[in-house]
Amino acid sequence: MTNTMEEKDIISMPRIGDSAPSFTAVTTQGNISFPQDYRGKWVILFSHPADFTPVCTSEFMTFAKREPEFARLNTQLVGLSIDGLYSHIAWLRTIKDKIEFRGWKNVEVKFPLIEDITMEIARKYGMIQPGESSTKAVRAVFFIDPKGIIRTIIYYPLSLGRNFNELKRVLIGLQTADKYGVALPADWEPGEDVIVPPANSCGSAADRMAGLEKDVYCKDWFFCMKPMAKEELEMA
Ligand code: BEZ
Repeated sequence: MTNTMEEKDIISMPRIGDSAPSFTAVTTQGNISFPQDYRGKWVILFSHPADFTPVCTSEFMTFAKREPEFARLNTQLVGLSIDGLYSHIAWLRTIKDKIEFRGWKNVEVKFPLIEDITMEIARKYGMIQPGESSTKAVRAVFFIDPKGIIRTIIYYPLSLGRNFNELKRVLIGLQTADKYGVALPADWEPGEDVIVPPANSCGSAADRMAGLEKDVYCKDWFFCMKPMAKEELEMA
């Protein structure tokens, strides 16, 4: 380690396929051990820049309103910012008592919000991106599967609130790909046709092109699809 760079200054960037870095933390719902406490569930771990800011407030109210939809997808929401616990508590109380957004009032945030004043967790997860801000986390979203593996990462800048329909689409897409061994085309939405794995022999490529595989239709031998009804998916 050089004397110009200390260990705490190194910013790690977890990648898709990595085990979610573990940590213990104080949250608005008590202490947690992450990701161990959520084994068997999907987790959306997300950071926000700061408490008592408008975009974050709109996002928290939306996360809270839509939490039941994520719960029906066996998914736990966990938030984080580099503010302290008392700031978090005061902000969540203000949201409940005073803020109306899109006609929503008395919105109670029931999922854990992590305090991270030392930035230790934010640094571990690459949530501090100094080109954007060195004192605030960007809007990062980590989709972590029931085995604790990071499956998707999305980053948004400070000035842009997240798209919650897209977050839900990503989650359903990951769950669908895992459960049925399929892939999902551009702009896929639940209920639309899915992509089947490529033919793995000349014979099966020929069979597919001849229309011999039930329900499967092909654009070419390497690009074949089949219907998947919305009802088949585990979704809200
Ligand atoms: C906001 O959430 O409104 C916000 C936070 C940090 C910088 C800019 C906007």
